[in-house]
Amino acid sequence: MLKICVIGLGYVGLPICLKLAKNFSTIGYDTNSKRIDSLKIGIDHNEEFKKKDIKIKNLIFSKKIEDLHKCNFYIVCVPTPITFSKKPDLRYIEKSFKLLSKILKKGDIIVLESTVYPGVTEAFIKKLEKKTKLINNYDFSTCYSPERINPGDKNRNLNNINKILAYEGKDEKVKKLIFNVYKKLSKKLIFSKNIKEAETAKGIENIQRDLNIALFNEILIICNKLKLNFNEVVRLASTKWNFMNFSPGLVGGHCLPVDPYYLTYIAKKRGYKSKVTLSGRDVNNDMKEYVINFANSVIKISKVKKDKIKICIVGLTYKYGVTDTRNSQKIEILKYFKKKFKHTKGFDPFFKTTDKLNNDELKKYDFFIFLTKGPKFKNIANLLDNKKIIDPFCYYSN
Ligand SMILES: NC(=O)c1ccc[n+]([C@@H]2O[C@H](COP(=O)([O-])OP(=O)(O)OC[C@H]3O[C@@H](n4cnc5c(N)ncnc54)[C@H](O)[C@@H]3O)[C@@H](O)[C@H]2O)c1
Repeated sequence: MLKICVIGLGYVGLPICLKLAKNFSTIGYDTNSKRIDSLKIGIDHNEEFKKKDIKIKNLIFSKKIEDLHKCNFYIVCVPTPITFSKKPDLRYIEKSFKLLSKILKKGDIIVLESTVYPGVTEAFIKKLEKKTKLINNYDFSTCYSPERINPGDKNRNLNNINKILAYEGKDEKVKKLIFNVYKKLSKKLIFSKNIKEAETAKGIENIQRDLNIALFNEILIICNKLKLNFNEVVRLASTKWNFMNFSPGLVGGHCLPVDPYYLTYIAKKRGYKSKVTLSGRDVNNDMKEYVINFANSVIKISKVKKDKIKICIVGLTYKYGVTDTRNSQKIEILKYFKKKFKHTKGFDPFFKTTDKLNNDELKKYDFFIFLTKGPKFKNIANLLDNKKIIDPFCYYSN
């Protein structure tokens, strides 16, 4: 009988776990005791799911390895961040494969969902074979299925996102089993026979998006230097049939500021220094400085005394609609202004620790620096006198 274990219950692992638990006997495993304890009582601190979604009959949450021995289908969804020097940090994958080496048995299937660079799955499987003396695609099977979930996106979710399944084995029964599990997750499954190609495909999806945003950030800066209306320039360019429109902004979160470094790392190891990908990263990393300089140039000409200036930073989580502040340059911008002006506050309706902004509060501040694009922020901007709005990305100005 199929018994699934999802390893790592974060933004990626929890939705997978909840969906599969509706169809299969499932264990959600995480090394974070707090995460397990709160999920057991139906609380998702990422605020993506409600109690009624989490309490599922066949689902057990556990942090104990003893509970996993009966499992035979493992889905690994652990983090893959970068180190301080922007190199891939594979610590969590290492740890989860160490766990697998203790419990793996003949007939088991492993699916890696975490974003990695080409060759990582193969390297960890080789280590696993060495430790367990079991042979991949013979005693056990491996699949790589890069995750494309987009937190905060109500239209694109697990149900309607196409999912890649890279399986190099030739066992049709295993392939069918993987298909049968994953068809409960996604309506459209795309098989690949090459894990490294699927690992690379995931990398370039995020690199492309990062680069497109970087280009628009660069156009924004140039328009600003030339004192041109950015939105009008883009509106005109958009009338050409093949012009693609993107929004400039602060790139944050767990994917875009991280994944490009995975591919450029392995490219460098093979003797190629990625130029385009890394320059896009540089542009996006520097946008924090752009925002600070932009805001300072507006504040500088204000008549209010420096020690009296009250500033509100609007938008703190890495993008609209999510509670996640990982790699959010907005938090760093908030810290900068808090240091510079003692009356600085951050506001974000999606970030629970900030207070509400009521009408009285709105009157208190001299400036509102808008860092996120979206309807809830537009509503605030609509209530304000234009002179109070600092809009570095031209989200709310024409
Ligand atoms: N968040 C996204 O939008 C997104 C989208 C696509 C792909 N991804 C990729 O999916 C992977 C997971 O990302 P995430 O955002 O879900 O991360 P996350 O930080 O939200 O969650 C990871 C979970 O794994 C747990 N964990 C860490 N080490 C573990 C271990 N050894 N055993 C068991 N549990 C462990 C953590 O406690 C945490 O709960 C990453 O590779 C990421 O790049 C993320």
